[in-house]
Amino acid sequence: MMETVNVKNIGLRGVTVADTKVSFIDGKEGVLVYRGYRIEDLARNATFPEVAYLLLHEILPDTKQLSYFNERLQKASEIPAYLYETLKHYPVDANPMDVLQAGVPLLAMADPELSDDTREANVRKAVRLIARLPVLVAAWHRIRQGLEPLPADNSLSHAANFLWQLHGVKPSEKMAHILDTCLVLHADHTFNASTFSCRQVVSSRAHIYAGVTAGIGALSGSLHGGANALVMKMLLSLKEEKDIAGWVKKQLESGERIMGMGHAVYKTMDPRAKFLKEMALSLGKETGQEKLVDLSMQIEQAALAEFEKRGKTEIKPNVDFYSASVYHLLGIPSDLMTPIFAISRIAGWTAHIIEEKTGEAQVKPALY
Ligand code: COA
Repeated sequence: MMETVNVKNIGLRGVTVADTKVSFIDGKEGVLVYRGYRIEDLARNATFPEVAYLLLHEILPDTKQLSYFNERLQKASEIPAYLYETLKHYPVDANPMDVLQAGVPLLAMADPELSDDTREANVRKAVRLIARLPVLVAAWHRIRQGLEPLPADNSLSHAANFLWQLHGVKPSEKMAHILDTCLVLHADHTFNASTFSCRQVVSSRAHIYAGVTAGIGALSGSLHGGANALVMKMLLSLKEEKDIAGWVKKQLESGERIMGMGHAVYKTMDPRAKFLKEMALSLGKETGQEKLVDLSMQIEQAALAEFEKRGKTEIKPNVDFYSASVYHLLGIPSDLMTPIFAISRIAGWTAHIIEEKTGEAQVKPALY
């Protein structure tokens, strides 16, 4: 009989693969910095397009630069007609992450600058990707419901337009602002698994779309971006559960993980989770669905208590724990939660791909 060997999946933990100037994390202190700016400052004061500009251009845009960047995003957002046609042939129950991953090479085929590997051309391709991934996600959601995709509304912000193209209803300013902040919070995170995948693929001089396709594949895993959908599944399955503490204990005793908790780098509270918790509380109140947020907090409390008993006090809610409730309260179906992570992380992925291609990270990053 073959002996089973329990090999711990350690990935690339502890291995330094390269330097980066795009972002910085201090896992002990719970610090996340994009291009020298703390995530708290950006979440409070910047929009997603500003952050995308910052990640790509290394500086925050002034008013004129931002307005031009927003215009470029709007102009670039149209996806080729053959992509809509292709989507119509997919099985309606196809996983939206698979649809997104399959869509990126189809976008590559329509890019007139595909073979131009200069920094400038890659920034233009990055802008097209940032503009088009949300359109692709929204179009798939419409098509799988037998609806026609909606044209963009250029009077709306990037986040508001996504909600409009997804639901066919103009979101309130508050809803759009909350989604925009979620996009800011998810935009980059140094050498996580998906970013590493993007960089590794383009290190062979493959094009930006090939790198992004790999990143989407890595993000879909349940230990990475796929965790938010599983958090939602957990919340929905526990709606009627009276003994949350008992459920958490049983889960851990049987060797199962509590989704949305723990992090490969943060050994304290994930700085993004604090914002997401606040937003979940505020949206819960606004939509009259406080029960869902209350359930998340009960799971958090019970899990923290159990982890403490087991001497694992470093396991805390991560970015996925409260983002699941936030997205649900924004009317986003569970299987679109990971694609929404992707429509934000595309800003970080492309910044990293450009850094990999240009060797711009030769100098150690300034911390914060
Ligand atoms: N629930 C239960 N136990 C957990 C846990 C969780 N969410 N996260 C970590 N642990 C435990 C592991 O079982 C392991 O225990 P052991 O040493 O007794 O075997 C220990 O903590 C270390 O976990 P490990 O996976 O080796 O290392 P890590 O800290 O680098 O793990 C994650 C990071 C993200 C993979 C892990 O926390 C996880 O699986 N979380 C749930 C999935 C998730 O939310 N992913 C999104 C990340 S942003």
